[in-house]
Order: sequence, then structure tokens, then C-alpha cells
Amino acid sequence: MQRHLRLLAVAAATAAFMAGCATKPKPSQSIEQVMESGFKGKESLNAKVSKGEGSAADHQTMVDLTYQLTLNTPTKGDLASWTQKTTALHAAAKALVAQQPGALDAWKTASNCKACHSVHKPD
Ligand code: HEC
Repeated sequence: MQRHLRLLAVAAATAAFMAGCATKPKPSQSIEQVMESGFKGKESLNAKVSKGEGSAADHQTMVDLTYQLTLNTPTKGDLASWTQKTTALHAAAKALVAQQPGALDAWKTASNCKACHSVHKPD
């Protein structure tokens, strides 16, 4: 009996721990890293994708990069705004992969550098 209770407690603690992880895993890339690898410069992956020239692999890379953004917490601006912007960006990347109509327009809107930087990029 005692032993069962202890096992139950361990199981409950494990479940609580895993639930915590599921809500917010740690990002494996920082915002800066995502910006450097996907958004910075005229020849960036984002530039290619926004021109409608992205391959299926490019779109998948954007799904991964934008997922990393959603896991990060910006040092500036409030989290609700960040979550809204990065979730929209991530959804647009997934729509590109799924070749949904309007996906490219959604991507162009959501990837607007200034709209996000003006709120979330520290000076
Ligand atoms: C959803 C929000 C968001 C969007 C969209 C976004 N950025 Fe950023 N970007 C950030 C944030 C936040 C930072 C600041 C990261 C930090 O220093 O902590 C940043 C930083 C940067 C940096 C500096 C990175 C470094 O090396 O320090 C560059 C360059 C950059 N962004 C380019 C772009 C370009 C170009 C676009 C548009 C094509 C873009 N970003 C779109 C949020 C965004």
C-alpha cells in the first residue's frame, strides 16, 4: 500500500513536470540566432520566401525557425503581443508548407520587420 502511494506520487510529479514542458519547452535558438539565420539581409531565407521563391524545404525551415521564436521571450515589449506576432508568423509558415491559398500574403504581413522590431527589439 505504502509503496503504491509512493509510486502514485512519483507518477503525479512526473505528469506535472511533463505538462510544464509541453506548455513551454526551452528554445534551442535565441531570437538573435533566428534573425541571423532566417531574416537578416537582402539575400535572407525570408527574402526568398517572401518573393514566393521558397522551396518546400525553405518553408519547412521557416516552420522550425518561427517555432523557436514562439518559445522565446523578448526582453522588450509584452509577452501577449510577442505571442500573437510569433504565432501568426509560425501559422503562416505552416500554411506555406501546406500550400494554402493566401499563405504568402499572410507570411508577408506577419514577417514585417518594423512592425515587430518597433515593439520588441531593444535599442
Ligand atoms: C516577430 C518579431 C520579429 C520579426 C517579424 C522580425 N524580427 Fe528581427 N528581431 C526581433 C527581435 C525581438 C530582435 C531583438 C533580439 C534581441 O536582441 O534580443 C530582432 C533582432 C534582429 C536583428 C539583430 C540580430 C542580432 O544579430 O543582434 C536583425 C538583423 C533582424 N532582427 C532582422 C530582421 C529582419 C530583416 C526582419 C524582416 C525581414 C525581421 N528581423 C523581422 C523580432 C522580429
